[in-house]
Order: sequence, then structure tokens, then C-alpha cells
Amino acid sequence: MDKWTDLKALHDQTATRPILDLFDATRAADFSVSADGMLLDYSKTNIDAATRAALVTLAEVSGLTEKRAAMFAGDKINVTEGRAVLHVALRAGDDAVITVDGTDVLPEVRRIRSLCAAFAGDVRSGAYTGQGGRITDVVNIGIGGSDLGPAMATLALAPFHDGPRVHFVSNVDGAHIHDTLQGLDPATTLVIVASKTFTTIETMTNADTAKRWMAEKVANPAAQFAAVSTAADKTAAYGIDPARVFGFEDWVGGRYSMWGPIGLSLMIAVGPQAFDALLAGARAMDDHFQTAVPARNMPVMLALVGLWHNQICGHATRAVLPYDQRLSRLPAYLQQLEMESNGKRVAIDGSDLGLHSGPVVWGEPGTNGQHAFYQLIHQGTRTVPCEFLVARRGHEPDLAHQHLLLVSNCLAQAEALIRGRSLEEARVLMAKKGLTGEELDRQARHRVFPGNRPSTVLAYDQLTPFTLGQIVALYEHRVFVEGVILGINSYDQWGVELGKELALALQPILEGIVDGSDKDGSTRALVSFLRG
Ligand code: F6P
Repeated sequence: MDKWTDLKALHDQTATRPILDLFDATRAADFSVSADGMLLDYSKTNIDAATRAALVTLAEVSGLTEKRAAMFAGDKINVTEGRAVLHVALRAGDDAVITVDGTDVLPEVRRIRSLCAAFAGDVRSGAYTGQGGRITDVVNIGIGGSDLGPAMATLALAPFHDGPRVHFVSNVDGAHIHDTLQGLDPATTLVIVASKTFTTIETMTNADTAKRWMAEKVANPAAQFAAVSTAADKTAAYGIDPARVFGFEDWVGGRYSMWGPIGLSLMIAVGPQAFDALLAGARAMDDHFQTAVPARNMPVMLALVGLWHNQICGHATRAVLPYDQRLSRLPAYLQQLEMESNGKRVAIDGSDLGLHSGPVVWGEPGTNGQHAFYQLIHQGTRTVPCEFLVARRGHEPDLAHQHLLLVSNCLAQAEALIRGRSLEEARVLMAKKGLTGEELDRQARHRVFPGNRPSTVLAYDQLTPFTLGQIVALYEHRVFVEGVILGINSYDQWGVELGKELALALQPILEGIVDGSDKDGSTRALVSFLRG
């Protein structure tokens, strides 16, 4: 008997019961969690009181309380890299103390944050200029965690932008940097090279391209470069003035790094004050995560709902569906956060996981997705648990009627998923259209929705910096909880290495310098086709 046994038995007993039958006068409130003005409704899932109790027990027997304390205390829980996991330190309160190897890390966190704020302020005010005058554009060159967080957040916080335009270049595909730089003036552009390691080939290649582009127009390109990295030696070797280099420690994982200097481009866009509000939102979620009892703890419950769907019900994917256009990059951001963290087949002690790893995460904003892939979500043969996000109000008061339409679509989709439409209802519908006999039957079958498909709704007042901080920290802690229960080290990413090594080896083969006879037949044939 393992720790999943009770849950599997509960699932066997309840798998086919209609979720709608669970609703009584209090279910919506009982199966919701709130935290600082945000509401997570998971009542439209097949989780009842007994299942929830078993899920909470699962968290407890997995040592969640102790492991959470260990993370916040700065213990080296990333065992394969021998590192602490302290993105929470980047947003800790003024009174906090967090020690790593006997040293309180927070004074240095605060010092770097004020350096970033001062530089962002200078860029925004014009105290720091390019060689052609005031900075009009900032290009953040980074990839993965050095791109997705700030890019997602910069888009999300568009109503708060009052600084220079901020652009993001990540892909090694030259098209990305080419199209981004087109139309920018090198003399008024600041390039931020964001790379934890300062070795990532995509980032360094794009940085070189940006440097050449700038050199065509300005005398001293390096003077319009800043860097964010843990590798001060490498940024210096690259010729970037240490006054514009913002460091951080190895205990900040790439995909957890938007709260620190990696968020510099965002800070320039929205200003240090709005950035502080983002940190405050995350801190509020950190406090909630550390203090709320499991059944009232938003990250814990979101994780348990996720594990229920993935590990117990066997649903392999999870759709993230923000009914908030400015969160359009949230699914991409969460793909890295969740899949790079918990997409692992080996447990923390090196043994086989013996379970499925975290789910495939995907999604698009509503209502766009409705006109694309919701067909499969409603009538496909697989169940896709859906996670909706929606705000009470938008930022466009004169377009409140559109927001109403947006919200009604979000709620309608969640309702349609759970309610479905029976064959009988479909037949009535067809009869009303005047169909009869075999044609009525045939047409009705196409209009049946199985229903009983689970979803959650995360609702909040408005997408502000504070709310965004809460949302992102919520998902970070969800990943942590899922990782703890699955027994995974969520903070390494060895699975990205092999492809990087092979790409390096393929380069000279594509250039024709090396023959590549050791490659498989398919790779050889593709090399030959692509070399032309
Ligand atoms: O390839 C994966 C990865 O290591 C991510 O974990 C990381 O966010 C990204 O590459 C970028 O790394 P860096 O910030 O060191 O350039």
C-alpha cells in the first residue's frame, strides 16, 4: 500500500458520478479558496470532502510542511546542484532574515534591487542616455527563464507602462532579432543581455548580432549594453561596464528569476514602484502559502487538484486559459515553470519515479481558444482539465461591455464543460429545427456534449502588478507542492542538456567541415537536404 492507494480507491468509487450532483447550497464556497482578494474555485471538479481529506493527507505524509520550511529557510533542497532555492528571498519583507551558508542573503538582495531601481530610474528619466540621446527602446536578450518571465509580465502590465518601449529577443533564429531591431535606432537603444550563466548560445549569439548592429551607428556599443547575470567574470570579459551589471546568486533558478535583476527590463517599462507592487503581491502569496492550513491554502489546493487530475484521474495535459488578453504569454511562461520543473522520470534520490511526471501544460487566452481548440476540449475523447483565469474588471472603463462579454464567455465555458448536453436534449433541439426520423437522430448525435469535465476558475479583481505577483507566486508554489508530493527535485533541468550538446556537434556537420558519418540515417538525410 503506497500513499496514493486511498485516492485511487476513491477515484474508482466516484469516477463516473456527475460533478453537477455534488452541488448543494454550500459546495461553491466550501470548494473554493481565497487569498488577499483572489478566489480559486475548484468546485467544478469531482473532488468531494473525502477526496479532499485524502489529498490533504497525501500532502502531509509527503512532508510538505517540513519541506516548505526548508525552502524558505534557505536549505539546499536542489540536491543535484547543491543549491538553495530562494526566489522567495527576492521578494522577502524588510524584517526577514534568510541565511545561506551562515550568511543573511537579504542585505545583498536589497542592495542589488536598489541598484536596479536606480539604473531603471536613470533610463526612464533620461539621466542615462544613449549616444543619440534619451533611450527610446530597450531590447532584452535572453531565453527561457531570462526571457519568459519578464516578457510575460511586461505584456501583462501594459496599462502601467510609462517608460521606454521594451522588446524581447530570445530565439537563435536570426529572424527574431532581425525583425525586432528593424525600425529601432541604435543610438537610442539600450540592450540588456540577460543570462544567468552568460554562456547560453542563443543569447550570446543574439548579443553579438546586436553589438554589430549598434557598432554600425554608434562609436561605443558597449556603453549601451547592460547585463544581468551570476557570472561577473564573463560579463566583464564581454566588455560591459560593471556599473551596468546586475548580479544574482546561483540560488535563483532561471525560471524563478523574474523577481530580481532578470526583471530589469520590466522595471524600466513600469517603474520601480510598480515593480515593488509586483513583489508585494508575490510576498502576500508567500505569506499565505506559509500560514494557511492545507485545505484553505491556495497553492496547496491548486497543486492537489492538479495531482488528482494528472496522477489519479490520468489526464495527461492541463489547459491554462486566461480570459485576460494581457496574460497571453502566461501559458508559455507556465510551460517552462511547470514542465522544466516537474517533467522528470527520476525521483530526488535517483530511483525511478514509478509515476507519471507533471502534466503537459498548454493554452491560449479566451475567447480566442474557443474558436480554435475548444472543440476537442468539449467533444474530444480525452478529458482536458481546464484552468480558467478571469478578472472582475479590465483596464478599459469605456469598454466595460466587452469585459462583460469576456466574463460571460469564461463562465459559460466552465458551465458547458461540466453540464454537457445529453442525447435527449440534442434531439429536442433538432426537432425544434424541424428535423425528424433518421436525420434527426444522426444530427443529434453530433450535438451531444459528454459534460462532467472538470475545471477551475482563478478570479481576481483586476490585473495589476500586485495581482500578477500573486498569480505567478501561486503557480511557483504549486510547482513546489506537486514536486514534493511526486518526490521530484523541481529545481534542476538536466533534460535540456543532451540536445544542446548534439546541436554543437551538428554545427560543423552542417557547415560541411565534418562528415557526420556517425549520425543516424535520418539525421544524415536531413543534413543533406538542408545543406541544399
Ligand atoms: O536551457 C534551459 C535553461 O537552462 C533554462 O533553465 C534557463 O532559464 C535558460 O536555459 C536560460 O539560461 P541562462 O539564463 O543561463 O541564459
